[in-house]
Amino acid sequence: NKTANQMLIIFGASGDLTARKLIPAIYNLYKGKHLPENFVVLGASRSSITDGEFRKKVVHESEFLKSSLGKEDQDFVSTFADKLFYEDLGDDYDTDYDRLSKRIGDLNNKYHTENNYIFYLSTPPSLYEAIAKNLSDKGLNSEANGWKRILIEKPFGYSLQTAQDLNKGLQKYFKEKQIYRIDHYLGKETVQNLLVTRFANSIFEPLWNRNYIHHVEITNAETVGVEKRGGYYDKSGALRDMFQSHLLQIVSLIVMEPPINSNAEEIRNEKVKALKSLRIMTDEKTLFDHTIKGQYVASEIDGEKVKGYREEEGVDANSKTETFAAVKFFVDNWRWSDVPFYVRTAKRMPTKVTEVVIHFKTPHHQVFKEKDIANKDNKLIIRIQPDEGILIKFGVKVPGQGFKVERANLDFYYSSLVDTNIMQAYERLLLDAMQGDATLYARADEVEAAWAFVDPILNYWENGEDVKTYGYSAGAWGPKNSDGLIEGEYTWRNPGPH
Ligand code: BG6
Repeated sequence: NKTANQMLIIFGASGDLTARKLIPAIYNLYKGKHLPENFVVLGASRSSITDGEFRKKVVHESEFLKSSLGKEDQDFVSTFADKLFYEDLGDDYDTDYDRLSKRIGDLNNKYHTENNYIFYLSTPPSLYEAIAKNLSDKGLNSEANGWKRILIEKPFGYSLQTAQDLNKGLQKYFKEKQIYRIDHYLGKETVQNLLVTRFANSIFEPLWNRNYIHHVEITNAETVGVEKRGGYYDKSGALRDMFQSHLLQIVSLIVMEPPINSNAEEIRNEKVKALKSLRIMTDEKTLFDHTIKGQYVASEIDGEKVKGYREEEGVDANSKTETFAAVKFFVDNWRWSDVPFYVRTAKRMPTKVTEVVIHFKTPHHQVFKEKDIANKDNKLIIRIQPDEGILIKFGVKVPGQGFKVERANLDFYYSSLVDTNIMQAYERLLLDAMQGDATLYARADEVEAAWAFVDPILNYWENGEDVKTYGYSAGAWGPKNSDGLIEGEYTWRNPGPH
């Protein structure tokens, strides 16, 4: 794909994300020769620094870039740094945006970026609409000569209502097709591979329905606590931070019908349909039975003391915010009717892992003796991270007399496919936006459909009478009673290595 000459304007450029993720991603794109010939980055934020200071901070003296630099990179680094510029924005929006607009124009003329601009909003979401308006006031949303795109980071709202307000607010100044909402999980190879696994093979899709699938299980576990983000996290919680965005994106890719082709709109239409078919929980009994909210408490991990959530910096000492969320739900459509989905996400778990487990039904008629069969169900395990890959568990005969059946693995690891680095999520997503491909970006209706499902759970967790926030020891697989969420002879697969 061809990448047109363009300028990337980063708002909030003195913030953490720019140094930690964006600049390293742009650098890797540059080194991999993915950037167009004429390309500049203009950082903008409130810190009053010069171009040189900006370059020093995010390139020359950046600890984030350093870790990925070898000796051979020294030449690249200085030519790369020359592409970076900075403009400070103060409190006087009118004059500041005049100045910013003039700077953009000057750089555009000097470096021939052809009036193609990406505005990357790496700022608190409360500023998104104001920035969009200011850009529009200066005519910087106009595509009369050259395209304009605006990129925003999650959270896309705090609830259904605020998400709708945000979408409306942005759409006053930019058309939906100019708006790119980043969900970095969509930039992960293995998440994209869900589409390929399902729709480029004929061996999975015939089984991908209620006739053969018993239930679907998704685990997203992190070992870290809230780190330095206590202030943000305490107002957000696991349901907003992970479930509404990343996990429902994964769910939509598992649930969706085959799109007619791989165009952004076709794929996203199917994802929206999938999200709209999630059964919204309305009554308190279902919400009580099907959702579990937990919070980590102080414990020891590998002999080291670990703080409880309420002791973390920036967190209210009486906080009820969840660091663990588990939800059981159904999907009301032809394909998935009555198949339970179990999704959990948490901080401070024993290991960092994200995986999807498709549990197939056991054969209707057992030919072999029940007692001889270990772990009866077939499983398709899609490991999103780490050890990216796919595993099928199936029964084989144990050599010897009789018919003892054990599970064997058919496995595929991404590491066997690529000997170089897999393009990181941010690189992939940025490059797509530069090329105008929105397939891996969330559309307004997708985000709203996800909120429509999550809103009642949030309301119940915040206001319901019988809601409990269960404690779990930091380093454990969540609250004890979450084990019982999956019924029958099943329970969560607590993933270790594959
Ligand atoms: C972010 C959340 O969106 O995703 C963080 O805000 C979380 O709380 C992170 O840690 C997880 O991302 P990854 O790629 O490490 O799984």
